[in-house]
Amino acid sequence: MPKAKPKHIDKPQNILIPPSYTTDWGKAYCGDSIELLSQLPNDSVNLVMTSPPFALQRRKEYGNKDQSEYIGWLSEFAKLVLKKLKPDGSFVLDLGGAYRKGIPARSLYNFRIPIHFCDDLGFYLAEDFYWFNPSKLPSPIEWVNKRKIRAKDAVNTVWWFGKTEYPKADVTKVLTEYSDRMKKLLEDPDKFYDPKKRPSGHDIGKGFGKNNNGAIPSNLLQIPNSESNGSYMSSCKSISVKRHPARFPAKLPEFFIRFLTEPGDLVVDIFAGSNTTGYVAEKEQREWISFDSEIDYVAASAFRFLEKNASVDTLRDVYESIKSGHSIKLSAYRSQMRLLREKSASYEA
Ligand SMILES: C[S@@+](CC[C@H](N)C(=O)[O-])C[C@H]1O[C@@H](n2cnc3c(N)ncnc32)[C@H](O)[C@@H]1O
Repeated sequence: MPKAKPKHIDKPQNILIPPSYTTDWGKAYCGDSIELLSQLPNDSVNLVMTSPPFALQRRKEYGNKDQSEYIGWLSEFAKLVLKKLKPDGSFVLDLGGAYRKGIPARSLYNFRIPIHFCDDLGFYLAEDFYWFNPSKLPSPIEWVNKRKIRAKDAVNTVWWFGKTEYPKADVTKVLTEYSDRMKKLLEDPDKFYDPKKRPSGHDIGKGFGKNNNGAIPSNLLQIPNSESNGSYMSSCKSISVKRHPARFPAKLPEFFIRFLTEPGDLVVDIFAGSNTTGYVAEKEQREWISFDSEIDYVAASAFRFLEKNASVDTLRDVYESIKSGHSIKLSAYRSQMRLLREKSASYEA
């Protein structure tokens, strides 16, 4: 587990209801994000990283909106996000694509969002990212599997908005591994490279032979959504509660949290689901706040912050206490479990 947070970086947070649970670095709340977000101080948040329910044709269990009403619905959250972000804050929004009802033509809803947010609400589109999930199953079944007239849809749009033109960002925090060709070049730049101007006008000079400890990442993020999710999945299984059906992989928020924030900054997820964002923020020593309207999701998300070998009794206790409206300090649970283990070890000795 990450180090405990130094006391001086606690930020003022005005939320009126008690959190469902707290950790060393964060607080998870159950409720409507419109109400909860409006209670945060203005200009206080460094990053809102989130994935809302998508505008799908097939309604999912967590309340997707129709495509036609979707943009109006999402805008209400976005207006508040704009107010709550610090001037150099960022809003990162992961959106899956969708087809129009009954025809093999794409909905434009996810492309209309950056146009509306920038033209009408005042955001700046800092960069458009694309999350390629190679492990995605072919869909929609009708057009891809049955009629075979469309390719499988495996890319989500991830819009990175700034409150101003210059949101805080440091790409050196998210460098990727050099390609084999680049590694060879770095071993012996003189032998490998013949500096000359490219047709594009780029002057490929000696500077390209400098080792920067990694390559600049591109805006195509290849992340399979097949990770094990550590204690979350196994804990849900062991007490037979449903896992969240639309989690994003931890590598997605990890990229943006490292890229756009520094330790001690505040990261908020307004549609937190299983709280992947809070879990990553905790590991990265960022303060975090998460909101979700479904108590079952909030209760199960607490498992992410318990030890992997938490007993069934502890899991059930945490889950049921949160569901019945108690506010839980998960760090206290962790130290209690450690004590119990130490006690039983000394009995055995
Ligand atoms: C796509 S899921 C997010 C999954 C999350 N990224 C994860 O990794 O688990 C969207 C979540 O938004 C929540 N939600 C929908 N409307 C909401 C609202 N008005 N306020 C708070 N949460 C809401 C749903 O309950 C659902 O869990």
